[in-house]
Order: sequence, then structure tokens, then C-alpha cells
Amino acid sequence: MLINKNDLPLVSMDFMNDTHFEDVEIINELYKDILEYEKEQSELNLKSLEDKYKEWITHTENHFETEEIQMREKGFFAYEFHKNEHNMNLSEIKQLFDNFEETKNILELKNYFENNLVSWLVNHIQTMDTVTAMFFKTGMSPCAMH
Ligand SMILES: [Fe+2]
Ligand SMILES: [Fe+2]
Repeated sequence: MLINKNDLPLVSMDFMNDTHFEDVEIINELYKDILEYEKEQSELNLKSLEDKYKEWITHTENHFETEEIQMREKGFFAYEFHKNEHNMNLSEIKQLFDNFEETKNILELKNYFENNLVSWLVNHIQTMDTVTAMFFKTGMSPCAMH
């Protein structure tokens, strides 16, 4: 297991927490596939990893889009800023997959998961998602004077 569900920061909107829990579940499964493929580079292990990675990309696209739709509907003040972090992360994980498809360098994938992904996710939830969820819930920014 790469991330323990219980270590994930919670935000004020349950629909967002639920998506983050699903995300962690897929990430843990994918990490397991990465370790399997590192151990044995079989066609079967490769296929399982590729399918799981694609599932993760689709889930992440939906995860980000759902937050963005809500932000637009509710007129969130830092929409561009939040969406920009989503865009950068999404292109990063897609690029990583394309690289892997080309090189089959499993260590690069493993390295990203162990050293970049968890800290990115936790940091994004603690900052962008936390402020956004608070705004959804109360209609206010943390520094609002009214
Ligand atoms: Fe999120
Ligand atoms: Fe987000």
C-alpha cells in the first residue's frame, strides 16, 4: 500500500472526500501493479498495469472536472488557480504514462509514485481542495470579512 486512506486530509464536502478515497484505492492498486511488473516483466503484468493506469487517468479527469464544474457554478474566486493545478497534474501523469509506454522504464514510474505523487495529492487536498470545499459549504473565502 502506498497511501493509507486514514492519512488523507478531509475537506468539508463529502462528495470530494468520496472521490479522494476512490482515487487512493486506484493508486494503491496501481502501485501494486507497478511492484509486480518490477518483479516480473510479463505480458500479463504489463496489461494489468496499463489497464489500471488508464482507469486512473479517467478517474482523475472526472475527479477534476467535477470539482471544476462546481467551482464555475458557484463562482469560486480562485477557479483559474485551482484548475491550473489540475491541468498540470493531469498532463504530468499522462506524460509519465506515455514515457513508460515508450521506454518500459518501471523505475521511473515507481519513483514518481513514491516520491512525487503522494506529496502532490496530500498538498493539493490540504490547500486547493480545502479552501474550495469551505467556499462550497459556507460561500466564503477563509479571509472574508463578512
Ligand atoms: Fe480533489
Ligand atoms: Fe482539486
